This record gives sequence, structure tokens and C-alpha cells, in this order.
Amino acid sequence: MLFALSSCKNKPTETVQTDSANKKWWKEAVVYQIYPRSFKDSDGDGVGDLKGIISKLDYVKSLGVDVIWLNPIFSSPNADNGYDISDYGGIMKEFGTMADFDVMLKAMHERGLKLVLDLVANHSSDEHDWFKQSRSSRTNAYREYYHWWPSEKGKPPFRPGSFEVDGSGWRFDSLTNAYYLHYFSFKQPDLNWENPKLRKEIFDMMNFWFDKGVDGFRMDVIPFISKDTSFPVITQQILDEKYGGGWDHYQASGPHLHDYLQEMNKEVLSKHDVMSVAEGAGVTASTAHHFVDEDRKELNMLYHFEGVSLGYLPGKFKQMDPKGYSLVEFKKIYSKWDSVFAEKGWGTIYLGNHDQPRMLSRWGNDAPEFREASSKLLTTFLMTMRATPYYYFGDELGMSNIKFDKIDDYKDIESINMYKQIQSKGGDLKEFLEAQKIGARDNGRTPFQWDATPNAGFTTGTPWIKVNLNYKKINVGAEEGDINSCLNYFRKIVQLRKNNKVLVYGKYELLDKENPKVYAYTRGEGAEKIIVILNFSKEKVDWSLPSGLTVDATPLLNNYQTIAVSGSISLEPYQAVILKVK
Ligand code: GLC
Repeated sequence: MLFALSSCKNKPTETVQTDSANKKWWKEAVVYQIYPRSFKDSDGDGVGDLKGIISKLDYVKSLGVDVIWLNPIFSSPNADNGYDISDYGGIMKEFGTMADFDVMLKAMHERGLKLVLDLVANHSSDEHDWFKQSRSSRTNAYREYYHWWPSEKGKPPFRPGSFEVDGSGWRFDSLTNAYYLHYFSFKQPDLNWENPKLRKEIFDMMNFWFDKGVDGFRMDVIPFISKDTSFPVITQQILDEKYGGGWDHYQASGPHLHDYLQEMNKEVLSKHDVMSVAEGAGVTASTAHHFVDEDRKELNMLYHFEGVSLGYLPGKFKQMDPKGYSLVEFKKIYSKWDSVFAEKGWGTIYLGNHDQPRMLSRWGNDAPEFREASSKLLTTFLMTMRATPYYYFGDELGMSNIKFDKIDDYKDIESINMYKQIQSKGGDLKEFLEAQKIGARDNGRTPFQWDATPNAGFTTGTPWIKVNLNYKKINVGAEEGDINSCLNYFRKIVQLRKNNKVLVYGKYELLDKENPKVYAYTRGEGAEKIIVILNFSKEKVDWSLPSGLTVDATPLLNNYQTIAVSGSISLEPYQAVILKVK
């Protein structure tokens, strides 16, 4: 489809910015991420859809969140659940129609909810018309929309293809006797951003959605759009580094990345009052500012991978270190990332999304006796950091990993092809399946749990992926009626953040940094100061307030009924408490 040039319908207006230049609506927002496939099915085909989302907008509104981020909803053959787009201007058949989209957007805006879509522009689907044209002949007008390596030059230098059984990011196409590049599966050929025509297509497409009234884009693997297209040979040592170092230089964060982002800002983002957030694959504390420093006029925010990567064994695919992770290291990472944006730019905070397992199972404790407390503790952490929280649907209920036993239950191309890869190398499949119970992406993709009726009220048909059997207990219906549920705790803390801007903008200071069980920090200064105390362990812990610091005995929020504050504070397992400093 062709996109008309932008008419700049939603040009920036004064009303959405707050008083000072440094305050922005997207800094104060809580973003709620919905994986549309698994949220609510309206027509019984087992797949969530836009009408399903529309039917649940009052629920989303009731959470108090401001922005909805939807994973890709565009036409796609679904090799990677929508991250392989065959028409950027069409709606995925299973999800509905453009008319449904228009109704959905209107219904969101009527409720004061903003909508952020997913921009998947490093690659398209191999079923996109551009690719069909591109592969048809070496002289086709679309040939330069993708990266081709003619076979007369021999085999191209190795590049990793994340979702391929043979691990290669090049695929031979006999039609024109050439290889094409795909950093993910062969169904996801990489687009050639060096071609100005391709960039214009992407920018026109973004303007098309913004003109419809969309409020922002989350940008999928955006550092990958620029790479060294002379495709030099990469040594094994550099390949092993994966993100950062040489890997970045050769395969991602290439020489023109920031030129492209500045061009995107000029041609698209600056023309609308919208937010942008990069999936910061490979971005480090020292490169983050290149994306989000306001003066550079690129993007608003990014999310890094340093936190969510902690605790996995190096060189093993998502396999936990049996020793677990160290809270001291966790604190160090999140404190460092706070300091990155202390003066300039703005951070994000998340523990779960569609590429991660459930935050409860990964960072909390999903044993029945600790589920609620640890889930609320993680929510408290996310809602009290100086960064925009990206909160994943279902975490407000304390949903947990499904922990499949068999590969046949998995639907994710990543798990399935990694299994095949290990199988082809004669590797340890049992070990792999065990590790997947913790790290697999499908753990976070099971259907949302609405009520205790069959399939958790998600669908009247057969769900595309199994529903977690704990839905009879863990569901919206059950939690609505319980004042102390995870759900109602989430609502309370969202309001607390809204009513106390110090939790958004206030200075962050880590306390007792070497404590292996307690993560404590203050937000704000002087008369407006709050302390957050989180016992990340399953043991009771006595924790002393720093000398000279006194607090109101009545907490602003507490995930237990009581708290004993004298000189020291007795914390229950996974207790989270927010107190006002006097
Ligand atoms: C991003 C997405 C992930 C997808 C990949 C390829 O990491 O979040 O879900 O598989 O890019 O598009």
C-alpha cells in the first residue's frame, strides 16, 4: 500500500505538555503493554483480536494507566507473531479490520488512553510485496530494498540469524542466484535503510498512522537498521561478544544509525505530539544518550537489556545460573541506569514483556505462599523508579510462567528452532527444556486470565496457546472482589505515582547498597522525600533506617497489613513498603 504524505493533523499542542520544558506527558505516563493475540478473543477463533480489546477498554482504564502499547497488529503471515509484516498499512486478518482499528482508537481516546504501535522496520516479511518484487530479478526496482549478496562473490561472511536452525543470517535464493540477509528467521528479510526510497516508504507509513491519530511507536530492534554493509568477515571472538563491542560495530548500531534517526525525527516525529521508545538491543550506558539526548533530536526513550539479562549463564541460551542472581548486582544495574538519565534524557523501567518470561517467576517467587507478596513487591519497584514504567499485561494479576514440559506445547519460533538446533548438534534437550521453563518467551504469552470459566474467559474456542491452569484462582473476576489482591494493589500504586510527582521526577538515591536482601532507596529531596524499602528475599529481615532519617509511621503503601517501625523495621518475606520521610 502507498502512504499519502502527512498532513500533520496532530501537531504538537501546548495542552499536553506540562509547565516546564523538562516535564512531558510520556514521562508521567504508565504504559500498559497488551499482547493482542492473548488478551481477549471476540469471535471464538482462539486468537485475541481488536474487538476483544475494545470490549475490555473499561478494564484497562480502571487500572489508571495512560498509554497502551500493542504488539504488531499489521498484516502478517505470523512466522514470528506479527514481527514479520507483509503490509504495513493493513490489519492482521485474525485481529480484524481497519474499521475495527478506527473504532478501537476512538474508544481509547474517548477514555483518555493513548495508543502506541510497534514499528518493525529492521525487517519485513518475505511475503511483503517489496520482497516479492525484490527477489524476482536482479534488476527489479525493489532489489535495493533488501540486502543481497550475489553468489558469484562466493559465500557471504557469516552473520547470525537468531531464529534459524543452522544459525545463519543469510539464505540462498536460487531465483536470482543470490543470498539475502535476515537477522531473524528467513521469513524476516532485513530492509536496506541505505536506500533513501526505502526510508521514505517507512517515514510515509509512520506519518500515515500518526495522521490517523496514533500516539507513538515502540521501535523494534531499531539499532539494527544500520550495519556495515561491506559485510566484513567477523572473528569468532567478536561474534561471542554478541551485543556491545565489535558486534555492534559490524552488525548493528552501524555508521548511519543516528543519521537515520535524525532524519526520522525531522520527517516524522517532530511533526506530531507523539512518543517514541527504542528497543535498545545492544545499547549500553555509554551509548544511550546518542538515542535520547533531547538536543540530538532523535527518540524520547529506550529500554535496555542489562537488567533482564542478569542471572543467565554466559554462553548458554537463557539458562539460569544455579546460584540465582545477586540483588547487589541488580541494584547496581538499575542505579547505574538511573544515573545515566539523571541530568539529561529519560529512562524506562520494565521487568516483563512479550520477549521475557513472567516477571513473577523470573524475579519474584511463584510458590503459592509468596506469589502475591513478591508480585506486589516487583510492581512496587517498577512504579517507584525515576523512569517511565512499561508494565506487561497480566502482571497486575500476578500471572506466572506456564512451564511447558514438552516442545510440542511451544508456539514461539525462538524456542522451537532453538530446540531443533540443539537436537541437530546432539545437545542436551532435557537441559534446554528445563531452562525454557524459566526463560521461554511463551511463558509471558499465555492468554490473559479474565475469570474462572473455561479458558479463563479468553475465548469460547480453542486458544492458540494453552491457558495457565492456575486461572481458576488467578483471574480478574476473583481479584476484583478482593481489596488486597495484586490487581487492586496495582491500581493503588498507579494512583500513588500519579498523586506524588516526586515518584516520577524526584532524585533517586540508593541506600545500603551492599545489603544482599533489601533494596532500599529514597526519591526526592528535603520536605518532599519518600523512602521505598523492598525485601527481595523469602526470609524475614530486620532493616535499620539510615541515621538521621525519620519517617511517618503510617505507610503510603504496604503490601502487608502491618509494618513494625521502631529504630529498625521488621520486614516480612517480600515485604514492600513506601514511607514518607519527615
Ligand atoms: C524484537 C521483538 C521480538 C521479535 C524480534 C524480531 O526483539 O520484541 O519479539 O521476535 O524483535 O522482530
